[in-house]
Amino acid sequence: MRAGSAIRPLLGRLYRRCAAPFGLRALNDMLVNGFPARLGPPLRFLFTQQFPIEAVGIAARIEEMREEISRRSDTYRFEYSPTTLGMARWLHHASHGAAGPVIPSRRLANVFSVPRHWGQFLHLCADAFAARAILEIGACLGISGAYLASARQRARFITIEGSPAIAPIAEATLAAVTDRAEVIRAPFDTGLEEALARFAREQLPIDVAFIDGHHEEAATLHYVETVIPRLSREAVVILDDIHLTPGMERAWQSLARTSGIAAAVDVGRFGLLVWNAGDTAGARYDLSGYTGWWPVGTSEHRPAG
Ligand SMILES: C[S@@+](CC[C@H](N)C(=O)[O-])C[C@H]1O[C@@H](n2cnc3c(N)ncnc32)[C@H](O)[C@@H]1O
Repeated sequence: MRAGSAIRPLLGRLYRRCAAPFGLRALNDMLVNGFPARLGPPLRFLFTQQFPIEAVGIAARIEEMREEISRRSDTYRFEYSPTTLGMARWLHHASHGAAGPVIPSRRLANVFSVPRHWGQFLHLCADAFAARAILEIGACLGISGAYLASARQRARFITIEGSPAIAPIAEATLAAVTDRAEVIRAPFDTGLEEALARFAREQLPIDVAFIDGHHEEAATLHYVETVIPRLSREAVVILDDIHLTPGMERAWQSLARTSGIAAAVDVGRFGLLVWNAGDTAGARYDLSGYTGWWPVGTSEHRPAG
C-alpha cells in the first residue's frame, strides 16, 4: 500500500474529529429548519461515530469478511465492454489474459469497497427509511450490500454486478448476513431492467437505492431517472463519488434539482437525494466540509468502475 493511501484514512479520522462539533451544529440547524428528520440519525453518526450497540456485531462480521477476502491471493484485471450507456468496465481474473494493471484482492476489499465508516452510514440510512426493498447498482465483493441488507427490517435486497469473476464473492458475502439478497449478474443497463421487474413482481417499491459503479454523467443520470418512478413515497437515492469527475459533479447538480426531490444533501463521498414524490425540487444542503472527506482526484484511488 502506498504511503499516501495508508495515511489518508488516518487524516480523515483526525479531520472528522476536529470538524465534528461544527458538523453537528450545522445538522441541528438543518433539522430545526425543516430538513427531513428521518435522516437525522445517520447524519449524526458521521459526526459522533455512535453506532447502535445491536449493530456493532454485524459491522464486525462484515469487516472480518472484508479482511478474509483481502488476504486471498486472487488477482484481477479490468475488462472493457460496450453497453447502451457507453463503455463499461468490470473485473476479470488476471489469468484470463486481458491487458492492463493487475488488481489484487486486497485492493478490491480496501479501495473499491466502501470503508467501514461509510458502510455503517449506509446501514443507518436503510434503518432510517425502515427499508423493505433496497436496490444497489455495483456489488463488487458485497461489502456495501452487506451493510445495507443487514439493517433492521432485513429488506429484500437486489444488487447488480457485471463481473462474472467477483459476483460469486458478493453472493457469499451477502449470504452471511441475509437470505433475502440476490445478485443479478449482468451489465447495469440490462441488469437494472431485470432488478426493477423483480421488485415490481414482488410489489415492492424501492425505499433505498445505492448507485456505486459506472461513474459517468450520462450513465448516472440514466440510472437515477430510471429508478425514480419505482421509488416508494418516501425514499432515498444515494450516489457514490459525486465529486469524482466534472461529469459526476454535473450529474449531481442536475439530479439535486429534480422535481420530487425533497432535499439533496452533499456529505462529501455520497450525495443523498431524498424523495417525497412532490412536484417541486426541495432545499439543498452541504455537509461535505465536516465529514473528513476530500476529492481524491484520480481514478488511481477511487476507480470509476
Ligand atoms: C466501486 S465497485 C462497487 C463497490 C461496492 N458497492 C462496495 O462498496 O462494496 C463498482 C462495481 O460495479 C461493477 N461495474 C461497473 N460498471 C458496470 C457496468 N456498467 N455493468 C455492470 N457492472 C459494472 C464493477 O465490476 C465493480 O465491481
